[in-house]
Amino acid sequence: MVGKLLLCLFLVTSIIFVLSWSFVLHSTGQIHFLDYPLLHNPIFPAMNDVNSGVSTRGNDEHYNDEVKGEKDGNSVGQEIGKCMCEVPGEEPLKVYMYDMDPEFHFGLLDWKPEGNSSKSVWPDIRKHIPPYPGGLNLQHSIEYWLTLDLLASEFPDIPRANAAKRVHNSSEADVIFVPFFSSLSYNRFSNVSPHRKTSRNKELQEKLVKFLTVQDEWKRSGGRDHVVLAHHPNSMLDARNKLFPAMFILSDFGRYPPTIANLDKDIIAPYKHVVKSYETDVSDFDTRKILLYFQGAIYRKDGGFIRQELFYRLQNENDVTFSFGSVKNDGINKATKGMHNSKFCLNIAGDTPSSNRLFDAIASHCVPVIISDDIELPFEDVLDYSEFSIFIRTSDALKEGFLINFIRGIRKDEWTRMWKRLKEVDKFYEFNFPSKEGNAVQMIWQAVARKVPTVKTSVHKSRRYYQTGLEPQRELSSLPIPRSFW
Ligand SMILES: *[C@@H]1O[C@H](CO)[C@@H](O)[C@H](O)[C@H]1NC(C)=O
Ligand SMILES: *[C@@H]1O[C@H](CO)[C@@H](O)[C@H](O)[C@H]1NC(C)=O
Repeated sequence: MVGKLLLCLFLVTSIIFVLSWSFVLHSTGQIHFLDYPLLHNPIFPAMNDVNSGVSTRGNDEHYNDEVKGEKDGNSVGQEIGKCMCEVPGEEPLKVYMYDMDPEFHFGLLDWKPEGNSSKSVWPDIRKHIPPYPGGLNLQHSIEYWLTLDLLASEFPDIPRANAAKRVHNSSEADVIFVPFFSSLSYNRFSNVSPHRKTSRNKELQEKLVKFLTVQDEWKRSGGRDHVVLAHHPNSMLDARNKLFPAMFILSDFGRYPPTIANLDKDIIAPYKHVVKSYETDVSDFDTRKILLYFQGAIYRKDGGFIRQELFYRLQNENDVTFSFGSVKNDGINKATKGMHNSKFCLNIAGDTPSSNRLFDAIASHCVPVIISDDIELPFEDVLDYSEFSIFIRTSDALKEGFLINFIRGIRKDEWTRMWKRLKEVDKFYEFNFPSKEGNAVQMIWQAVARKVPTVKTSVHKSRRYYQTGLEPQRELSSLPIPRSFW
């Protein structure tokens, strides 16, 4: 009797053990349910083309003193995908996307529509995917990846992870997606050409506001359920004051008053890293010879003074590498090499709290040392950054010897634990097409999905007093907006 009981207990325990173990493996991404060949895809030749991101010189003022590369190798969908495409029991986010004029999206990539139907607003991604410019433009390319993913969601035979799908009836959608490639518009068209009064970037923003504010979808919610992309800190500078009830996808809040953008309603998305992913990382604490690495500009505009201060403090430490100045063609290769060979990578606030340095460090499995008191991090509601990063207050970093002693005090086993975690989380920051399970595109859609209940509450509240749908257009200046307005 007792023997049978024990046997029973043993069996149950083993089953639980096996189940929980497979769950652990699964959740750390060790097991992939579906492998598929992506490159040289005979059905969708476009997926082969998309790898060849055409590089044009970006006129990105904001970062032109940082890493510059003529051509970024890790363009679209280069890595072969592995995914378990449908997460069972999880409904994809339903996204309605406006069929906006191509001048707002792929037209900015010099793509021209064929034919007149509304379908012709979009490229046929099974035949050809217009390539995104390489180099620094890529850091803010989320607009491109999210739009491509929505387009792909209409083709069941494109093997992609399915956190979001496009729907054509806006009443059934969870959110309304505004496909304006605002970062690209800023990067390419913010100069005013001689015979014009304003830049094309400004014009497009004006047009966008005009277009959106007359849509039934916008009027229904006051824009609150709209997803608007403004990843480059200088993008959407004009339109954002008019579109502020919408959910913005941003790189940080550095240039936003909290009434326009805040963590309650908006989403922080990662930059696309520019250094190469470290795919076969067999390094360890001892083989990474550089203790602390910093790549980027030392002399910054407002707010970046700390970089300069730290440089003076650390320049004589022989295991610290500061790499700066104008890094030309070989910049990305040099940064890749430096970060792959470093234990810790400094991420110091520049003229905005965020920079792609952090994502370069993560991709390099170089433990980020974040000195940026106001930084907001992507997916922090589901990710604990302290598991793989070090945070140091600016005031502490400026104390004599504090930073270097702190870093030197981190033991090998502590570092190794963080490095292992970096190898697990790095996929959350990878942008690929088609989108892979757990990659940045999926993580962003899931972050949007987590905002949907808040959006619904906000929309419902906004309907309390005006039932006509003709709510007067409120001017921002005349309206004190409490945080709960939204
Ligand atoms: C597109 O529309 C224009 C007029 O609006 C018409 O002349 C042209 O033939 C149409 N093209 C196609 C491919 O339908
Ligand atoms: C869109 O969805 C709503 C709500 O489900 C439904 O009432 C309406 O008939 C749908 N419209 C069309 C054109 O299918």
